[in-house]
Amino acid sequence: MPEYVPGAQLASGSREAELVQRTVNAWYEAHADEWGVIYQSTSIAGHIRQRRLARVLGWVDGLCLPAGSWALDLGAGGGTLALALAERGLHVVAVDPVPAMLHVTREKAAAVGLVLGDGHALGLASGCYDLALSLGVIPLLHTPTRALSELRRVLRPGGWLVVSGQNRLSLRDLLDPRFNPFVRTPRRALRRWLELGGIMARDDGIRLFDPTLREFERLLVECGLAVVCDWSIGFGSLTLLGRPILPEAAMVALDNCVQAVADCGAPVLAHAGTEYLVLAVKSA
Ligand SMILES: C[S@@+](CC[C@H](N)C(=O)[O-])C[C@H]1O[C@@H](n2cnc3c(N)ncnc32)[C@H](O)[C@@H]1O
Repeated sequence: MPEYVPGAQLASGSREAELVQRTVNAWYEAHADEWGVIYQSTSIAGHIRQRRLARVLGWVDGLCLPAGSWALDLGAGGGTLALALAERGLHVVAVDPVPAMLHVTREKAAAVGLVLGDGHALGLASGCYDLALSLGVIPLLHTPTRALSELRRVLRPGGWLVVSGQNRLSLRDLLDPRFNPFVRTPRRALRRWLELGGIMARDDGIRLFDPTLREFERLLVECGLAVVCDWSIGFGSLTLLGRPILPEAAMVALDNCVQAVADCGAPVLAHAGTEYLVLAVKSA
């Protein structure tokens, strides 16, 4: 994996862009089965996804889209969201660059249309969708603004976007020196030095694009979308040096408590979840 700045604008078709996407695809190809069942898991990861899904579906229901409206799920993964949308009478198209993921979606939701594709360049007609959703995908992308522009392009004027992002200033990351964003640069420099010296193995992992909620919302506006509302989510998965500090059940209980406080608008906490959701609309 080449050195790159997550969220940088890499030239489309460039070697760097291709390598980053290939790394992401290989990871999801190898983990497709897990994504088919993650929403049923009682782990903290499953718990947060269930909570996120419930909020997304609450927003979708609130839009009162007529049956037969068109919805696009970008990076559909295991197809749980696509299935729930199809059950609401929407025509759903699920896009994913990983064949194994589309296979899991096909098994779950036969009525969902499948497209093998990449969010950076959607081969779909412009202005056709009433609703576009993308959960857990933008943070993986080498050029997120291109995908956000693509999502806007395929929406009809007045169409809705529900999108999630990864928060650099989350409680979890601030409390763990391994993830703390304020020591990211020296931490990476040290790691690189240790790698060059052969003391640590090369890190070929996926680096996430993790703007704060406000930075992310500015990007949406720059892409021609108007923010309607947002929500910060995910407080319980606390780690020390990347390792969980509590048993799963305790993390779920902690998550419930802190999320409840954050939802009351507690200063700082209200924006300190590991992720956020944004509902936006395509401005004319
Ligand atoms: C974290 S999973 C999220 C799955 C699903 N949206 C969910 O929330 O359960 C990320 C998904 O994005 C897909 N993905 C990765 N790169 C993508 C890209 N460039 N365009 C569209 N989807 C992509 C992956 O294959 C994977 O299915």
